[in-house]
Amino acid sequence: MRTNTRSFLGAEVELESVLVPLDLVSVFGRLAPVEVDFGSGDGSFLVALAERSPERDFLGVEKLPGRFQSGCRRIGARGLSNARILQLEISHALYLLPRGSIDVFYLLFPDPWPKRRHQLRRVVTTEFLRAVARALKSHGAVRIKTDQEDYFAAMQRTLRDAPELNAIVEDGEAALPQTTFEKRFLQAGAPIYRLELRKTVANG
Ligand SMILES: C[S@@+](CC[C@H](N)C(=O)[O-])C[C@H]1O[C@@H](n2cnc3c(N)ncnc32)[C@H](O)[C@@H]1O
Repeated sequence: MRTNTRSFLGAEVELESVLVPLDLVSVFGRLAPVEVDFGSGDGSFLVALAERSPERDFLGVEKLPGRFQSGCRRIGARGLSNARILQLEISHALYLLPRGSIDVFYLLFPDPWPKRRHQLRRVVTTEFLRAVARALKSHGAVRIKTDQEDYFAAMQRTLRDAPELNAIVEDGEAALPQTTFEKRFLQAGAPIYRLELRKTVANG
């Protein structure tokens, strides 16, 4: 695993191969709990978490070049060694994460694709939840937020196909920094729907 120190101050994860699982110890230069932010956008949530928890590592996954670069610059400007961003599709990144390696996944305000004919593009599917369960450590958590009631209901239906993940009453909400999109939605008075899941089976 290499990081490119020239373009983004070492904040991006550069893959040796799109087929080889990520070596998280090599990415962060140490063995520590890892949290993953899917669709990390401008990186401000990732950076806020990394600044307040230097003993943990934070991996963003973002496909859009402009947002990926903003996130990398934000990390580089603060000199954070515990935050990195991978520019990749979420489904592909999930495939590269070693089994039982992740402590927490965040999926915060995923693209809603409200039109019926576009809903197949939504990130949360049975395959997504099963892959998340596979990559999570035992008792690892998934934190999801959306402003879309319809998507939220669809997520809860999909959850029935992932018995390893159980919805629990969220306890740490107040402690989470607000994301850029969350601030926008709150300002607009939009509702925020939250789901916290926990992996309840041991890693096989
Ligand atoms: C609505 S924005 C939310 C960004 C951030 N989580 C926040 O709350 O401010 C969704 C983000 O997910 C990214 N995204 C959507 N689908 C993705 C995918 N399949 N793979 C990687 N990134 C994706 C988008 O490019 C965008 O930056």
